Amino acid sequence: MNLDASLTLRPAREADAAALALLHRMGFAEGWNAQSMRTLLSNTASFGFVVEDPEADILRALVLVQVATDQSEILTIATAPSMRRKGLARALLVAAGKEAASRGAREMFLEVAEGNNAARGLYESLGFSLSGKRRGYYRDRDGHVEDALLFRAHVPLAL
Ligand SMILES: CC(C)(COP(=O)(O)OP(=O)(O)OC[C@H]1O[C@@H](n2cnc3c(N)ncnc32)[C@H](O)[C@@H]1OP(=O)(O)O)[C@@H](O)C(=O)NCCC(=O)NCCS
Repeated sequence: MNLDASLTLRPAREADAAALALLHRMGFAEGWNAQSMRTLLSNTASFGFVVEDPEADILRALVLVQVATDQSEILTIATAPSMRRKGLARALLVAAGKEAASRGAREMFLEVAEGNNAARGLYESLGFSLSGKRRGYYRDRDGHVEDALLFRAHVPLAL
């Protein structure tokens, strides 16, 4: 699926840090702050992409990735709730897979909570396959515990 023509997919920059933190908080109970975003984007081992609505001057989706030798890892990915199911996260993962491969990665890994059906659907639709399970990996403030599933794919991602 192509992105809506009003949207732009581009690399994330340190100057996006505050907007990235805002967007991240919409997707996760424990959102990352602007300083964490800045630190990640200033590190040469990590990179990110965003989907932006340039007219509205707002970020709609983000992905952050780390590369170490021939392996890469999705650190986080989120789409603003009002913009979900429009192919934004898929476009970001495809761009992230290409960039990771161009930096020497052969594989991409990620962790996802077992009950996160939206994210699991996204990864499976892009050819990721289950490669392990971390029992009791996620624990929220209410004491709810959930396993993490480890997914793996070759990069660039096969479409
Ligand atoms: C997971 C998330 C990033 C998906 O973003 P998105 O931009 O809505 O995803 P896309 O529109 O690119 O979806 C691509 C495919 O993923 C799957 N998918 C996405 N959302 C889904 C849902 N709610 N249920 C089932 N499958 C879903 C589908 O296969 C979809 O393709 P289709 O729409 O053609 O059927 C988004 O739901 C989100 O931000 N969630 C909160 C943060 C989060 O959980 N991040 C992942 C942590 S591991």
